[in-house]
Amino acid sequence: MTEHGQHEHSHGHADGHADGHGGHSTHGHAHTTDAELADTLELDALILGSYLMDATAWAAQLLPEAPATIIDVGAGSGAGTLALARRFPKAQLTALDKSAEMLDRTLDAAANSGFGPRTTSLRADLDCGWPASAAADLFWASSSLHELADPEKTMSEMFAALNPGGVLLVLEMDALPSFLPETLAQDSAVEPGMEGRLHEALAARGWNHYPDWTAGLEGAGFAVERRHFPTEGSTTPELAARYGRAFLGRMASALEGSASPADLASLALLLGDGPESLERRGDLVVRGHRTGWAARKL
Ligand SMILES: C[S@@+](CC[C@H](N)C(=O)[O-])C[C@H]1O[C@@H](n2cnc3c(N)ncnc32)[C@H](O)[C@@H]1O
Repeated sequence: MTEHGQHEHSHGHADGHADGHGGHSTHGHAHTTDAELADTLELDALILGSYLMDATAWAAQLLPEAPATIIDVGAGSGAGTLALARRFPKAQLTALDKSAEMLDRTLDAAANSGFGPRTTSLRADLDCGWPASAAADLFWASSSLHELADPEKTMSEMFAALNPGGVLLVLEMDALPSFLPETLAQDSAVEPGMEGRLHEALAARGWNHYPDWTAGLEGAGFAVERRHFPTEGSTTPELAARYGRAFLGRMASALEGSASPADLASLALLLGDGPESLERRGDLVVRGHRTGWAARKL
């Protein structure tokens, strides 16, 4: 452990506290674990991961040359780390996260994909300051900036640490992933519009809450471009149901009575084992849109 709460880390031990996919760590995540979050993130990347190809290509276009060093900031279970390793076959990658369990998942995934020799991890809590040793040509921060206590301060620290000519690529979900079609079957007992209302209830608890990062990034010194990545997942009904169960299950724990009884009853139908369950209904459509900010240090 160094003065900033960092650990150089290869394969550490789980520290098992709660955080949010698109949420803020201090709001309403008390009953979900890093392992559940990691499962959700992996299914998200599997089903909605086309933005990873698009956003890594965007970074490649903006960099003056292929990056030698990359840091995945708030790497989670490593979806970004793997996509970056594929896009930039010569780069050395560092997965940075405050969670040892997440870093273990990322290192395992990198090793299983043949990227082990190019991937290391750095355990650090960015709320304690940017790690002194963490410089690179490309920083990648996907669904992580909004979890920080003082994102503007971290953006300034990242600007200072980024190599000249480098890029910070920030990604956020525009809305939480959704699973039901716009129109439900007439005899469905699920309340129409319940997903949107549950998302609003979660937003009130801080889930996926973030501003347009443009002003903050420009204030830190970056030249900024913004882009939208719409994604409708094409997947099998089985995988859609697995992702739905992982995500809606986390939602149900976080909501804990803070939505209408009718909407919570609908959620229980989806998570139950009756004919309206995720596995048996057969009408799931997974959607998840993202916005990206490419911030250059000119
Ligand atoms: C919602 S996950 C996103 C993971 C991954 N980037 C993705 O898009 O799939 C956010 C990650 O940021 C990490 N994180 C949150 N606050 C952090 C902090 N203060 N310092 C370092 N990592 C942090 C969490 O542990 C978690 O793995």
